[in-house]
Amino acid sequence: MSRPLGLPVVRTSGFAFDTAHDYAEILGGRIAGYSYSRIDNPTAAAFAVAVAALEAPGAEVGAEDVGAEPFASGMAAISATLLAHLTAGQEVIGPASCYGGTWSLFTRWLPRWGIHPVLIDITDVAAVRAALTPRTRVIYAETIANPTLSVPDLPALADVAHRAQSRLVVDSTFATPVICRPLEHGADLVLHSATKFLGGHADATGGIVVGRREHLEPVREARIDLGGCLAPDEAFLLHRGLATVALRVRRQSATAAVLAAELAGHPAVARVRYPGLASHPQHGLAARLFRDGLFGSLITMDVHGGREAGMAFCDALRTVRIASSLGSVHSKVSHAASTTHRQLDDTALAAAGIAPGQVRLSVGVEDPEELLADLRQALDAP
Ligand SMILES: Cc1ncc(COP(=O)(O)O)c(C=O)c1O
Repeated sequence: MSRPLGLPVVRTSGFAFDTAHDYAEILGGRIAGYSYSRIDNPTAAAFAVAVAALEAPGAEVGAEDVGAEPFASGMAAISATLLAHLTAGQEVIGPASCYGGTWSLFTRWLPRWGIHPVLIDITDVAAVRAALTPRTRVIYAETIANPTLSVPDLPALADVAHRAQSRLVVDSTFATPVICRPLEHGADLVLHSATKFLGGHADATGGIVVGRREHLEPVREARIDLGGCLAPDEAFLLHRGLATVALRVRRQSATAAVLAAELAGHPAVARVRYPGLASHPQHGLAARLFRDGLFGSLITMDVHGGREAGMAFCDALRTVRIASSLGSVHSKVSHAASTTHRQLDDTALAAAGIAPGQVRLSVGVEDPEELLADLRQALDAP
C-alpha cells in the first residue's frame, strides 16, 4: 500500500456516485461522503482538520468534539460566524478598534439585518459587562487587535459571555495557535484570516473557524448557504503553509522582539506598540495568555514628523517592502494614514488613536541583522 505524501488537490466542483441511492444518502448526510464542493471538498476538509488539530490539540478541549469550517477568506469566515450566531433584534459587543473589514461588517452590514453592534474598548472588562443587555448574544474580540495590538482578557471575557448566555468569538489571526489558543481560555469559536500567518506566503486567500461541534454547526450551515467555500487550490497552499507555521511564527516573533526594542530606543520614533514590550498596556496579560514567551510579529510605530515622515520612512526601506496584507515570510510596512485609514483626516485619526506618522511593520523571516540595519538606515535617512 502507498499513499501520496503531499496533499492531493481534488479540483472538482461535483462528485459522481455509483447509485442514485448513494447520492441521496450522502447529500442527506446519512452516510459520509462528498457531494458538491461548496458543501465539502476533500482538500479543503484536510486543511480544516489540520487547523483544528493546532487550535485544540487533544486533552484540554477533546479533539473529537472540535472541528473546523474552511472559508474563502477571513471576512467570509467572520460574516458567516456572526450571521450564524445572531439574528434580528440581537446585539454583539465588539471592539471599537479592530480590522477595518470587520468594522465595516459591524457598522454597515449588521444593522441592515437588524443586528445591533455595541463597539467599545474590549480590553475594559467592566465596560463589556456594563454593555451587556438581555439581547446580547456574542462578544467579539481579536487576540492581538488590528491595528492597536491591544490584548483582551480572554478568560474574563469568556466568563462574562457565558454568564450572559452569550458566545465569545475570537479572531486570532495575529496570534496564530503557535502563540495563543483561545479555546483553552474559554472562547467558543476561534477564527482566522488564513491569508496571513497560516498560509504564510502571501499567495493564497482563505479563512477558518474552529470550535465545538455545537457552536460550529450553525457556522457550517451559514457557509454552505451563503457560499463562502474555500477553493481546493487555495486549500492546498494554505495546508502546505501549516507545515511551517510554527517555525515561521517563532522566528518572526523572535525577530520582532529585537526590532521592537531597537525602535523603542530610536530618537526618530515617538512611540512603539508591541505586546512584548513592558510599555505595552497589556504586557502582563499577554505574557500570561501567550505561549513560549512569543508576542507576535506585528509592530506599530509612530514616526516623529507626521504623515510625510511616516511615508518617507517607508520609502527609504530596502529589504522591508511597502505592501498590503501581513503575516507572510516577507517583511512589510504600511503607512496607516495614507492607506488603511486614508478616509480619516487628522482629527478623525486622533480620535481613533492613530498618529499621522503611524507605520505598521509585519516582520518576516529574513535575517534579523539585515532587517535591523534596514530600519536603522531608513530612520537615520536625512
Ligand atoms: C485581524 C484580521 N482579521 C480578518 C481579516 C480579513 O481577512 P481576509 O482578507 O482573508 O478576508 C484581516 C485582514 O487583514 C485581519 O487583519
